Amino acid sequence: MLNGFPVVVAGFTAICFSTGSLAQTPPEDPAKDLFTQRCSVCHEVTNATTKHHSSDEWRAVIQRMVEHGAVADDKEQAAIIAYLAKNYGPDSASTAIPQPPIAAGH
Ligand code: HEC
Repeated sequence: MLNGFPVVVAGFTAICFSTGSLAQTPPEDPAKDLFTQRCSVCHEVTNATTKHHSSDEWRAVIQRMVEHGAVADDKEQAAIIAYLAKNYGPDSASTAIPQPPIAAGH
């Protein structure tokens, strides 16, 4: 019987959407790892993730980080800028979600 098929697809789609909307952290993105690696060398990534900037502003910030000595080639910088502008842009609500306090012990 083919009758059950659309129901299964609809159910699966609903699950995808509902878990997506419950997510408390920005969606997984390959650039997230790059950002975490490159931008946690000198300071916590929260230096960036507590800010809201447009992509032009992020470009300027990253330019300054490179002047400080951050290591990222042009492609990596572009990926990080796009990631930050998307998740920590002027209209982003990402930082409106309270971050859990970092556990004591460091
Ligand atoms: C070589 C060390 C170094 C690395 C690597 C580095 N930063 Fe920074 N960052 C600094 C220093 C020093 C400051 C404080 C002085 C300043 O704001 O320019 C800072 C401050 C900041 C600030 C706060 C200042 C503002 O204008 O909002 C942000 C945001 C930031 N960094 C983002 C980043 C991002 C994104 C990356 C990854 C591309 C990165 N940093 C990598 C050294 C670094």
